Amino acid sequence: MFATTSTSIAWLILLVSVAGWIVYAIFNVRGSRSEIGAEQKLAANRKEYYDDEALEGPRLERVQVLGLLFLVIITIALPLYWVMEPHRQAEATFGFEKRFTDWGAQLFAPTADGGYNCSGCHGGMKATGGVAAYAVTDPKTGEVKSVSWKAPALNTVMYRYSEEEVRFILNYGRPFSPMSAWGTIGGGPMNDQSITTLIDYLKSIQIPQENCVATRAAYNPTCDDGDLPAANNKEVIAEAQRQVDSGKYGSLGEALFNLDLGSGAYSCARCHTKGWSYDDPQVTGGGALGPNLTGGSSIRQFPNQADMVAFIQSGSELGKRYGEQGQGSGRMPAFGQLYTEDQIKLIVEYVRSL
Ligand code: HEC
Ligand code: HEC
Repeated sequence: MFATTSTSIAWLILLVSVAGWIVYAIFNVRGSRSEIGAEQKLAANRKEYYDDEALEGPRLERVQVLGLLFLVIITIALPLYWVMEPHRQAEATFGFEKRFTDWGAQLFAPTADGGYNCSGCHGGMKATGGVAAYAVTDPKTGEVKSVSWKAPALNTVMYRYSEEEVRFILNYGRPFSPMSAWGTIGGGPMNDQSITTLIDYLKSIQIPQENCVATRAAYNPTCDDGDLPAANNKEVIAEAQRQVDSGKYGSLGEALFNLDLGSGAYSCARCHTKGWSYDDPQVTGGGALGPNLTGGSSIRQFPNQADMVAFIQSGSELGKRYGEQGQGSGRMPAFGQLYTEDQIKLIVEYVRSL
């Protein structure tokens, strides 16, 4: 719409100026004298000019008034431009980001709305956690059974992973889980731009951090000086405490390790306990996507408990070493923005007792 309007305006301007040139050319040709030598007498620069009276009187004043007028324009318009410009730039950036977020939302939307139905598994457009139908083969009996696999909340995913790690998950999916590969590089339907657009959308639905200057974008990675995302932490701890009080778990550390809140977005068990995600847990901490943590293996990997706390706070990074002889793949999330250091210590103590 806008493009066609501005094209029409451009055509109009072009036509008017072409017409103007034609009229000028006609008058110019007709206005010239045909006799040879006439231009010598009548050349424009030989025309008699204003006399002193007019030159130093009304004409001078007119030029001075014009000068003043331009000075006023410069002194008012230029500062005004400076005042407005940062706002205009911020608006432009905001509009630009919003466009991508909206496109990402279209990809995230249910199939009926033309999206790829991320929302269908992950608990709606706000991605607060959901379940996905899946079929697993029982390793003992060889029987195939259908299960409901927990699809974690994604409204904290940018706090748990770096952007590149999220991109990896979206590109390649999670093998042996309902999360399929979405990037063309992993055999999925989405090009790089779609994946980036989806990440923009994920950023827009992150739970805001506490004590952060409120920005229009909910997620602000520059505001991570130790503040946890919103009141979520309180809710998580309260739920874990309830489960301890009800006798389901022996300690807060154990409850947090196994916590089923936001479909496991806060738990360790969904990656470290096989079957936890579809309500058929095998040995707790016995290993699944993440390594086996039982039999004191985490004590061998981290002889120093503080190193283990630091590892769980920051998660793993692709290629980077951790512990005694671990090498990260980037798949172990960071928990430093979900839990306080004391809370992580409780989890670590529990894990070391496995
Ligand atoms: C068929 C259901 C399903 C669909 C559709 C789906 N996911 Fe998933 N997704 C899952 C499940 C289940 C997991 C957790 C897998 C596991 O247990 O490791 C997951 C994991 C993830 C993770 C990793 C989160 C974490 O903390 O480990 C991200 C990010 C993610 N999905 C994003 C998306 C996006 C974006 C889309 C849409 C393009 C999408 N998913 C579509 C089921 C689904
Ligand atoms: C999304 C899956 C996932 C979740 C959730 C997860 N981990 Fe991990 N964890 C991994 C992976 C994968 C590794 C292996 C390192 C790698 O590949 O980067 C790992 C490695 C570890 C290790 C090092 C083990 C070793 O011997 O090398 C420890 C300890 C650990 N995780 C503890 C935890 C704790 C505690 C939590 C919960 C607060 C947790 N993990 C949540 C996937 C996960």
